[in-house]
Parts: sequence; C-alpha cells; structure tokens
Amino acid sequence: MRTQVGIIGAGPAGLLLARILQVHGIESVVLEGRSRDHVLARIRAGVLEQGTVDTLNEYGVGERLMHEGIPHAEMQLRWAGRRHALPLVDETNRRMTTYGQAKVVQDLIDLREADHLPLLFDAPVESLEDVNSDRPRIRFAHDGQQRTLECDFIAGCDGFHGVSRQYIPDAEEKSALREYPYGWFGVLVEAAPNPEIRGFAHTTRGAAVCSARSKTIGRLYLQVDPNENLDAWSDDDIWNELDLRMQDGSNNRLNRGRILQRDFARLRAFVCESMRFGRLCIAGDAAHIVPPSGAKGLNLAVGDVRVLAEALRRFLTKGDTDLIDRYSEICLRRIWHSVHWSCLLTDAIHMAPGQSRFDTQMQYEALQHWVYTEIGRKHFVSSMLGLPYEV
Ligand code: APR
Repeated sequence: MRTQVGIIGAGPAGLLLARILQVHGIESVVLEGRSRDHVLARIRAGVLEQGTVDTLNEYGVGERLMHEGIPHAEMQLRWAGRRHALPLVDETNRRMTTYGQAKVVQDLIDLREADHLPLLFDAPVESLEDVNSDRPRIRFAHDGQQRTLECDFIAGCDGFHGVSRQYIPDAEEKSALREYPYGWFGVLVEAAPNPEIRGFAHTTRGAAVCSARSKTIGRLYLQVDPNENLDAWSDDDIWNELDLRMQDGSNNRLNRGRILQRDFARLRAFVCESMRFGRLCIAGDAAHIVPPSGAKGLNLAVGDVRVLAEALRRFLTKGDTDLIDRYSEICLRRIWHSVHWSCLLTDAIHMAPGQSRFDTQMQYEALQHWVYTEIGRKHFVSSMLGLPYEV
C-alpha cells in the first residue's frame, strides 16, 4: 500500500486531519487499532471552542453539530455553598458549544466512508520505519496479516499510549509531566440536565462537575482519591454525593436517572515539546494531555491538526518546508497556554490531600477574582474560549 500521508489513529485528531487533507486534494490512509464499534462507543469530552465549531463547519463536518450542538452563554461556579455565574461570550460573540466528542468522531467517520476513502479499523500499527528518510513506512496488522504502508509523511494521531511518540528520538527528554494526587469518577447518566445546576463546584468534600451531553444525557464527575474503591459506590451514593457537592442554598436538585456508564480518570498534564522528527509529526493526545477541567483536549487536537494540515499541504504540493519546520513551535504556544489554564482551573476547584484552611481561602480568592473583577472575567473568558489560531 502507498499513500501521501499515513495517519495513525481514528480519534478526532486523525480523522479531522484526513478530512482537511482531502479538501486540499491530498491522499491519506487512516489506520485505527481498535474496532469501529469501540471507537464510536468511547465516552470522552464534549465541549467545543468556537474555533473548533468554525473548523468543523469550514471543512463540511458541521451539519449535525449545527442542529444538535447546545451553545452556552454562561458558566456556573460554586464555592463555599453558593452559586456564582459569569458570562462566557466575548465581544465578537464567540462561545462554547456542548457536542459530544463521540458525535464529532461519528460525523467524521460517516463522511469518510460516504466518500469511500481508506479508513481501516482493527489495524493496529506495530512499528514505523525510516522515519527520517523521504520514504517512511508504517508496519501494521490487518485481517490476520502483516502489512506495510509506504508514505510521503506520517501523522501520529494515536493518543497518549500510541506508538508514534517513541520514534521521536528526543521526545522523552523534551517531555514534561504533572500528576495530580486525585482523579475524576465520571458517570454518564440518562437524566435531563438541570440548567440551574451546571459547571464546577469547589467543596471541602472535593470538587464536583455537572455538564450536559445533550438535552437528555448528563455527564457528571466527582473528585475522588485515586485509591477509592469505586465499586463500593451504589448509584444512590453517587447521586447523594453529587447533590451534597452541588448544593447552593436553593431547592434545586439534579434530575436523577439511570447511570449508563462509570469511569475513572487520574488527572494529569503532559506535554512533549518535540512534535516532529524527519517525516513524522505527532498531534493531539499523542503530544499532550490536559487535566479535563478546561475541556481543552479535543480543542487542542483541532489546533494542532489545522497547523499540520496546512504544513503538509505546503510541503507536499510545493516542497515548502518552512511551516513543517516550525510545527512544534507554533503548536506549543497554544498548547502551553491551554495547559496552563487547565492547571490553574484544576488547582482552584480541587481539594488537595491535607489541604489547609489557608489553601482553601486562596482558592476562594482565585474564584472570586475570575467571577467578580473585570480583569479576572476577561482572563477566564478568553482562556475558556481559546487562543485564536496562528495558521
Ligand atoms: N495503531 C493504530 N491506532 C492506534 C494505535 C496503534 N498502535 N495506538 C492508538 N491508536 C488509536 C486509538 O485507538 C485511538 O482511536 O489512536 C486513536 C487516538 O485517539 P484519541 O485518544 O481520541 O486522541 P486524539 O485524536 O488526539 O483526540 C484528542 O481530546 O477529549 C480529548 O483526550 C481526549 O481523545 C481525546 C483527545
């Protein structure tokens, strides 16, 4: 097999890259290690920056998003048992939109399949060869056979645990990691999200987060210790704890319903500053992980892919290497900005183990600053909405 761009991973990064390249007339093959059903069933983030919405529309992937996406004009924050809110719209009317990542992935897969373009599921990549030559190759398994894909360029969009990053010789030395001493116990629920109870809550019991995936499906989280025995929690225990942490002195309560799925994620931040070697670039979670508080994971992947697609277009159609040479540098400005913001927000709403009353007061001050000062609101809104794209 031969193609111009070999793309590893059919997450949002790989699929969107394939779509943008297609629009520019560049061929690609997408290789995904897992099954189609597995990829579509994964529950992930669900809040899109305006730039992500605009990008999906620009490349013809926005039709269902325009019907089913739920725009937000406000952000709720709770601390010390009280509810606070701040507008989440800027002067140019940019805002956040709720639309599950699974839907973004489904829309991209549907389009690719409708166009009969190569997208192979159950095709795990095992190794890369000659990445630093002008004929790099991808070795993968498919239908019980070992196969090789020859490419002009390889895009490693294979997530944090993928294989691509290890082919960048200085990736480890140029990586930075922060692990938080707590995680998020997440539940997906079949219960109409109550618009009066949304956003983040800081409590001395730990943080809680309430978000919507649609008008009938909610996604809720509780901060827990990484060693917590989650199997011991009954559904009622989860709802009771959520009610306790989201209480704001009013009679509002969450609408309860069936818990469809439970999961746990340890919070961490990771950035690999070396995102390119020879004819290989990595994008999305393969290059960085953010704590989920800022809802930046998918949005950062879109930012990387926009730069990568344009860099590949210039390189493959004109032989122009300027942008591909600056790929890491350009992406990292946006990445570090979002990582910093996600970490600030994470630090402000979670209770660290053994946290003092002094530390808690510092958190209240940070939250107070974001909601009740003009300069703080500006910082909060512009950080949530995301930096403009450079390319
Ligand atoms: N061969 C083929 N595919 C692989 C391999 C491999 N060796 N290793 C991993 N993959 C696939 C995974 O199965 C997954 O489908 O790569 C894909 C990576 O997708 P994501 O993890 O979704 O990462 P990305 O596309 O960068 O999306 C950005 O935003 O909301 C956040 O973290 C969340 O997934 C999200 C991310």
